[in-house]
Formats: sequence, structure tokens, C-alpha cells
Amino acid sequence: MLAKVENLMTQMVESLNDRYVLELFEKVPKGKRLRAKLILKIAGLSDDAYRLAAIVELIHAASLLHDDVIDDALTRRGEESINSLFGNKTSIMLGDILYSKGFSQLTTLPNEVAYKISNAVALLSVGELLDVELSKSFNENQEIYLDMIYKKTASLIEAASASAAFLAKKDVGIYELYGRNLGLAFQVIDDVLDITQDSEKLGKPSLHDFKEGKTTLPYMYLFERVNTEDKQKLLGLFKKDLSQNDKIWIKNRMQETSSLNDSIIFAKNLGFEALNAIKSENDDALSSIIKDMIERDF
Ligand code: FPP
Ligand code: MG
Repeated sequence: MLAKVENLMTQMVESLNDRYVLELFEKVPKGKRLRAKLILKIAGLSDDAYRLAAIVELIHAASLLHDDVIDDALTRRGEESINSLFGNKTSIMLGDILYSKGFSQLTTLPNEVAYKISNAVALLSVGELLDVELSKSFNENQEIYLDMIYKKTASLIEAASASAAFLAKKDVGIYELYGRNLGLAFQVIDDVLDITQDSEKLGKPSLHDFKEGKTTLPYMYLFERVNTEDKQKLLGLFKKDLSQNDKIWIKNRMQETSSLNDSIIFAKNLGFEALNAIKSENDDALSSIIKDMIERDF
């Protein structure tokens, strides 16, 4: 099932008739293909569903090629990132190639689908810009964080889910809500794993987000729960290279204040919202996507 998506993605890139682009594309670390799985589970195994899955994964891969340049990330999913291997310029241009190819392929799908996906990519970019802006200083505002992760991550999952429902002539609103909450929960868990997992499992240095200026939910909870002295200490560590002791201090304070636990509960509640949205559909596969995503460890 997923092999067919991989083949379609390769075919789309091959149609550009450029050996170097294909060579680079083959070095892009492959992910969990969550979006493709979601689309095929909702829409079934039609030709349009496979094409949509390949397009969305191409666009997602493109967004990560840009994101790794923006975040100075040298690894992606435990492998060397394209920017690390070939430089920022190559990573950006390969991203441009993949998302433009995805967009041209979108014209082969119904207008409603093309609109939903392309509009989500605009939101994705607005979200990434907001993430960059927020990273300039310590952000305490949870509303703004949620708006940013909605745009940066949930919008494309929401659009993928709704578009798949459209293709299968299912209730689009239900699947839109499911996708939005799944996407939000996914990003909150991603932000928790940055703190709880060791670098080997993550494929990137642990607590990298804080160094990059990203005050994710566990940091916001921690900040509002500690005394003035610890608030000052936390602000002092913001964007710094953290020593082993600093990392231990942050993790211990997060444990004591239940900041990590409450972030996980927050994500679980979003997961329940997602499950609630699709309860009339009686779809076990979609329920297990939520479960697997919340219980994942990388
Ligand atoms: C990862 O966030 C980033 C995203 C999910 C979206 C990135 C979007 C853009 C760069 C907009 C441009 C879009 C296109 C199609 C070219 P993260 O840094 O929190 O996650 P990470 O830990 O996986 O890096
Ligand atoms: Mg990143």
C-alpha cells in the first residue's frame, strides 16, 4: 500500500527528467508517511487517493527540507539532512522542486481538493513564519502557540483528511475536525518527545527546541508553575547551549511541576476530540492512528 505511494512519488520526480534531482530525492530521509496512511484509510485505495497521498507526502517532504534550513538541523529522522549533506541552497531548491511538482499534480484532482491542499500549504508557511517570529523571545502565550502549531502542522493534516473524505464522498466536516485535532495532538507530542527522548532515538539532539528559541507547551507550563528565581533561571537558559546539568535541571523541574505530564494529557484530550469527531463512522483503523500517535516514542 505505502510502496505504491513511494513509487508514485518517485514517478512524479522522474517526470522532471533530471538525474541529479532524482539522486537528491532518493537521499531525502523517508518518514512515517502518516499523512499518506491517513488519506488511504479514509479514502480507500482508489487511483485518486493514491495520487493525493503521494502529492501530500511530496509537499510535506518539501516543507521539511525548508524547515531544516530554517532550524539549522543537521539530522532528520536519525539521518543526515539534505542541508547538512549538500548545503542550504540545495535543500531549499529541492524543496521548491518537490512542492511545485506536487502543486502541478494537484490539477489532476477535483478543484475542491486542489483548493484545500494548496490553501493549507499557504497556512503552513504562515505557521512557520510565526514559529520563527516566536523564537525570537521567550513566548508565554499558549493561545499563540496553539495557533502556530495549528497552522504549521495541523492545517495540512486537516486538509489531507478532509480531501480524502471528499474523494470518498464521506462527511467532510467530520474528517476535517478529526484531522485538525490529530494534527494538533501530533505536534504537542512531538514537542514533548524533544524533551523526554534521548538524542539517539530522536535522531537529533535532545532539548534542541529550547536552544532554537522554541518555547513549547511543557516550557510554558513550567514557566507559569515555578517561583521567580526559577523563572529567571529558565529565562537565562533560553536559546543557550545547555550543559548536561542544565538539561537535568529542566527535566527535573518539569517532572516536579507535572509540566510534561500535563502536556501529554493535553495531547490526549485532543486525541479524544479527534476520536469523538469520527465516532459515528465506527472506523477502528482511524482510532488506532490516534492511539499509535499518542503512544509513539519517536
Ligand atoms: C516542522 O516543525 C515544520 C513543519 C511541520 C512545517 C514547515 C513549513 C514550511 C517550511 C513552510 C514552507 C512549505 C513548503 C511546502 C515549501 P518543527 O521544526 O517543529 O519539527 P521538526 O522537529 O520535525 O523539525
Ligand atoms: Mg524543525
